[in-house]
Amino acid sequence: MVTKDKEPIEFKEPALNVPAGTVLITGGAGFIGGHTAEKLMKRGNRVVAIDNLNPYYQVEFKKECLSILEAYGADKFRFCQVDICDKEGLQKIFAEEKPEVVIHLAAQAGEIELCYLFNWVGL
Ligand SMILES: NC(=O)c1ccc[n+]([C@@H]2O[C@H](COP(=O)([O-])OP(=O)(O)OC[C@H]3O[C@@H](n4cnc5c(N)ncnc54)[C@H](O)[C@@H]3O)[C@@H](O)[C@H]2O)c1
Repeated sequence: MVTKDKEPIEFKEPALNVPAGTVLITGGAGFIGGHTAEKLMKRGNRVVAIDNLNPYYQVEFKKECLSILEAYGADKFRFCQVDICDKEGLQKIFAEEKPEVVIHLAAQAGEIELCYLFNWVGL
């Protein structure tokens, strides 16, 4: 990166303060979730991605993202097509995987009411 006066500055990646072990990512087939999943697997975490693969934008992009993540192997990555509103479905995954950390990125941009329910009320 170059500043206004053309002095090069070093770009430092922010530290990921996530413990070792399994990380569950909601919205794991999405843009941010997919990149986060890959970053975590590269540093040694196992990732469980939850996503309902909704068609808000092209599902092919999400499937392509998942195929990249699945290439890390089943010991590193598991995908569960589940809606975060499916309480029983979530409970089953939590019981099976016992994640150390949950990163909540499932969201539907542009639908204020849904965003509110999913992200703040936690339904
Ligand atoms: N993309 C950006 O530049 C950016 C910047 C800042 C913040 N964010 C935030 O990060 C979060 C994720 O953004 P993104 O760009 O990855 O969006 P995205 O749409 O690519 O990913 C969201 C994923 O959540 C999934 N999802 C939606 N509703 C679901 C549900 N009920 N159950 C399960 N999965 C569900 C979708 O299928 C999708 O794959 C959002 O909260 C967004 O506001 C994004």
